[in-house]
Amino acid sequence: MIDKTLEDLFHETLKDIYYAERKILKSLPKMARGAQDQKLKQAFEKHRDETEGQIERLHQVFEIIGKRPRAKTCPAIDGIVEEGEEILEEFKGNPALDAGLLAAAQAIEHYEISRYGTLRTWAQQLGLKDAVTLLEQTLAEESKTDADLTKLAESAVNTAAKKKAA
Ligand SMILES: [Fe+2]
Repeated sequence: MIDKTLEDLFHETLKDIYYAERKILKSLPKMARGAQDQKLKQAFEKHRDETEGQIERLHQVFEIIGKRPRAKTCPAIDGIVEEGEEILEEFKGNPALDAGLLAAAQAIEHYEISRYGTLRTWAQQLGLKDAVTLLEQTLAEESKTDADLTKLAESAVNTAAKKKAA
């Protein structure tokens, strides 16, 4: 197929991450409710609020390319979120629950970092300067969230996970 361009790929991938962000927006409150550690709970709540802003930025990027915001089902994020929800159920009431939720959240962040990194690079190649700025803002937030989760993992959460279940 030679009739597809980098513009098309950019648009398709934008629809993919738009779907992912909306899925994550619904999933984060469940993860926050499930988390036992207060700091982890707060990290999920904070990122839920950030995610709303990220969705708003995506609306702006759609506008820049003259398209209406539309989502395209992303089986990858469905699978990653589903794994997190499995942990919520299977480790409920267990000291290892938070470590599992943290790992699930980092898998989500890494997916997003990968998508936003790609979109940013394509936006640069397509000369979409304003889109580059917006995508970089979100990329920075996702990277910061990932780093914060790593800090939490290295401190309380995994230590607590080593304790035996009550
Ligand atoms: Fe996000």
